[in-house]
Amino acid sequence: MRFCCKVRTWRKKFFTIAILIIGLYLFLSYNLLPIWFGNTITEDLEIQKHIGELPPRVRVSLNYVVMHIDLKRTPLNLAYLETLLPFLKEHGVNSLLMEYEDMFPYEGKLLNLSAENCYKKPDLKRFLSTAIGSGFEIIPLVQTFGHLEYALKLSEFQHLREMPLYPDSICPSKEDSMAFLKHLLEQVMDFHNAISPLKHIHIGCNELYHVNKCEHCKKRGLEETHIFLHHVKNLSDVIKSQYPDTTVLIWDDMLRGIKPKEWDHIDKFTKVEPVYWESGAYPLVSHSNLFMYHMKFPHIWIASAFKGADGRTATFPDLGIRYQNVFNWMNFIINYNSGGGEQKIKFRGIIITGCSRYSHMDPPCELLPISIPSLVLNLLVVRRFKSGVDEILQEDDDPRDSNEVFLYKYLKKEVVKSMQCNLDIDSVDSSGCVFDGMELSGVFKSLTTLFHDLKSMFNDKELSLESVEFYSQFDLINKNTVAYNIEKLNNYLKQIGDLEYKAVLEMSQYYKRDFVNEYINYKTFHIKKKLQRLINIYKTYNHVSVWRRTPINFTSL
Ligand SMILES: *[C@@H]1O[C@H](CO)[C@@H](O)[C@H](O)[C@H]1NC(C)=O
Ligand SMILES: *[C@@H]1O[C@H](CO)[C@@H](O)[C@H](O)[C@H]1NC(C)=O
Ligand SMILES: *[C@@H]1O[C@H](CO)[C@@H](O)[C@H](O)[C@H]1NC(C)=O
Ligand SMILES: [Zn+2]
Repeated sequence: MRFCCKVRTWRKKFFTIAILIIGLYLFLSYNLLPIWFGNTITEDLEIQKHIGELPPRVRVSLNYVVMHIDLKRTPLNLAYLETLLPFLKEHGVNSLLMEYEDMFPYEGKLLNLSAENCYKKPDLKRFLSTAIGSGFEIIPLVQTFGHLEYALKLSEFQHLREMPLYPDSICPSKEDSMAFLKHLLEQVMDFHNAISPLKHIHIGCNELYHVNKCEHCKKRGLEETHIFLHHVKNLSDVIKSQYPDTTVLIWDDMLRGIKPKEWDHIDKFTKVEPVYWESGAYPLVSHSNLFMYHMKFPHIWIASAFKGADGRTATFPDLGIRYQNVFNWMNFIINYNSGGGEQKIKFRGIIITGCSRYSHMDPPCELLPISIPSLVLNLLVVRRFKSGVDEILQEDDDPRDSNEVFLYKYLKKEVVKSMQCNLDIDSVDSSGCVFDGMELSGVFKSLTTLFHDLKSMFNDKELSLESVEFYSQFDLINKNTVAYNIEKLNNYLKQIGDLEYKAVLEMSQYYKRDFVNEYINYKTFHIKKKLQRLINIYKTYNHVSVWRRTPINFTSL
């Protein structure tokens, strides 16, 4: 899942203009009517008086603190997830966003959507019951527009694709599409409702790479945005008619390109709520979009990322960026006034996302057990802002300094309490922190260091490994380097092997075996192959005992 946007350039322009207008408005309203601002602060003081030992001036009101558990092609052991529950609760999480994708046990016509190693119904039911019993609300996430690779990749559902060669997006205009999606939603929702009635269902709808491309869609003569909105409306109508008490959440990124004028022609949604997802250190949030969401939807949610946002092949989340992301989000929503007026926008909840892959077809990114320090940091920041902070970022503060101040002032103690370490967000290092997953984290830190050493070795001018592939074709290698280099390369292969062995042991506590194999082989394949290739070249060269007369024809390849 990566919410990049086709509309970004446009959005930037719009964002700048919106900032200018809103800035002017803020300037005028604060200067001409300072009493508005004064009132806000006073009100908060009243509310806050009895809350903490500090006299907090401001706090965020988020009813939902949701942790995203992304299981796509990533079978976490349910027993592990269960052990996380008390820890999550203690850190303020009250809901779980379950993105099952192919790990859900579908049946009937949808049977093949499930991975063969998907959860078994009784096991999943037991886990969910435990979570609900401990006070968590469960919000399933079922993609219903884009990111349907796990279904559309199959021959049975190929005909529902928007574009024949791309399995990600479904065509909303084909007759069978809505029936298929209804079926999909029913299986997941009925399963959950039998355990406990769902208050929310998340239907995804982000990162739609192919809209309005097929003949069926084009025939409708609608713009992309309207195709999108119609589909969301149809889905929410279907859900509303069958599950009237369930509210529908969508990721908001496809709404961001809708112009303010266009919104005039769009009806208010009564049962749909957008989730504004931004994972950068400085979330790019459009005031204008927020204002439109505020007008058109009952509530707005926000989403940060504790992992799954630092690159498709990242092994560790960037703690510095993850911390800034959530800190700046909190700083943004605290007392957020739309246009500086008295209309304060209340945000319903925050989803702390942790994608396990950017999509079904992408390699795995950071592992959950390795990302716990980042999760802790996210949760501590949210918890602190929820209970009240007495200092927020001022306009002319250096944001980094202020983050530091904030961290040291409020979080240091709590990080020590949680993980017994002084987490240094600048050096992006959680070494020394105690958490379930630290051994696994240690193994991959060693592997990362080893890969770093290997890079230096390949670039080492003395060892001349860079020249080997070329000159081996002409039998021109200094024999005296061969034995030494073979030993060096073999030594690295052995070290990788040892770490792989440790990684298997550690990872097996958290994941099913198929995924353990995928992850470790994926991480080491490339480098092992390179080492092995060089060893083979040297070994073959060892048999050469007679050389040619020079010069040699180097263009003869
Ligand atoms: C699932 O896939 C298998 C193998 O391709 C196929 O034989 C079977 O009919 C499919 N099942 C359903 C329910 O479509
Ligand atoms: C979706 O809703 C529109 C009206 O909003 C309707 O014309 C269309 O037939 C619906 N499509 C499906 C697939 O239900
Ligand atoms: C070198 O090899 C190429 C390709 O076989 C050939 O075309 C060329 O004439 C050779 N040059 C000499 C100097 O033999
Ligand atoms: Zn279509």
